[in-house]
Amino acid sequence: MALADRAVADDLHAAYRARTPRSAAMFERATAVLPGGSTRTTTFAPPYPPYLDSGAGIHVRDVDGNDYRDFLGNYTSLILGHAHPDVVRAVEAQARRGSAFGAPSEAEVALAEELVGRIDSVERIRFTNSGTEATMFAIRAARAATGRAVVGVFERAYHGTHDTVVAGSPGVPPTVGDLVVTLPWDDLDGVERAIAGRDADLAAIVIEPIQGAGGVRAASRALLEGLRDICDRIGALLIFDEIIAFRAAPGGAQSLVGVRPDLTTLGKIIGGGYPLAAFGGAAEVMDRFDARRAGALTHGGTFNGNPVAAAAGLATLARLTPDVYADLDRQAVRLRDGVADRAARAEAGVRVAVAASLFQVRLGQETAASAVATGAGRAELFVRLLLAGFYLAPRGLGAIATPATDADVDELAAAIVEAAVAIGPG
Ligand SMILES: Cc1ncc(COP(=O)(O)O)c(C=O)c1O
Repeated sequence: MALADRAVADDLHAAYRARTPRSAAMFERATAVLPGGSTRTTTFAPPYPPYLDSGAGIHVRDVDGNDYRDFLGNYTSLILGHAHPDVVRAVEAQARRGSAFGAPSEAEVALAEELVGRIDSVERIRFTNSGTEATMFAIRAARAATGRAVVGVFERAYHGTHDTVVAGSPGVPPTVGDLVVTLPWDDLDGVERAIAGRDADLAAIVIEPIQGAGGVRAASRALLEGLRDICDRIGALLIFDEIIAFRAAPGGAQSLVGVRPDLTTLGKIIGGGYPLAAFGGAAEVMDRFDARRAGALTHGGTFNGNPVAAAAGLATLARLTPDVYADLDRQAVRLRDGVADRAARAEAGVRVAVAASLFQVRLGQETAASAVATGAGRAELFVRLLLAGFYLAPRGLGAIATPATDADVDELAAAIVEAAVAIGPG
């Protein structure tokens, strides 16, 4: 970082520190017991993140009493905003009846019925506590169904943190990498080249129909159709990771492109803000988890299908009628266009990429790829937006929640452009 940039960062951090002494103290207290001050790598941003205390609608409050308009919604999971009255009511009612049982409950059956009713390709479903577990079990199901071990995963994909999907990371045995093929984005010929010679070993290709962590970009219909053909030809399963993309439409992103995967993973919004995710798909594959079968796949989990989370998910999905999706998408376009207009007038190098109601702020010449690496400008944008009263992911990811008004969106657009002007061309 150049000296002048350093001074800007120091000034900004000083302004941020002045408003957040309790978060600073909390960070110090936390780092003594939690490496890095929290239990999520993704929630750290320098100098320290604000520690949030409460939320209602799209507003969140930190421990110092600062109010932010939250356009992240716990990494896109709070589609109705914080503490939506319907969700709170459903959670309270279930919590009074009992938080969890060592037995199945009606809430999980009802949520399963709702999701199977919404997603054509999902005939059977199973719940997990996190998206990481969901993709882990979808891959295991594909490996069991095909008797093969190799999995194709796209560059810059994010499918959680289990070994197969973070092959090459410290702590993951190098041999795990032998079972993973990295595939190029939107390049079917490149996919063919990458899997050439390994066709007979490939259990599955996994793809996010809309990449989130990879920089908010939708896969083209041609890519998804091409993958469907490849999987059919070589006898591998096609897995859509819709953990983030499911907010695109009542039937998920797959319903918009008309490509039917064998398995789908879900998370984020389906738990209504509570820890719940799922994997599901063709009965023929999923029925391998049927405990009545000899040699059934094992899938335990003390909190799987938790009734409180399932009740929150059901209450959330009940609000998500087709017109709600249309309105969320309209707000995202309003943000994109609002930033484009203001940026043109201010001659600022910033834009917002949009896929359904997901968005990512890109500075200067950033692309989906380069915007993911958190550079100096990006860290500065995060702090400048905090100081302006807006909360996004440090890497510029955001999502529209239903309580966001046109005015909220317009004010965010203005704050983004103002921050970009202050950051300069970089
Ligand atoms: C596409 C995708 N897959 C998997 C995951 C992992 O989900 P979780 O954080 O619930 O483990 C995420 C989380 O951001 C995601 O966006």
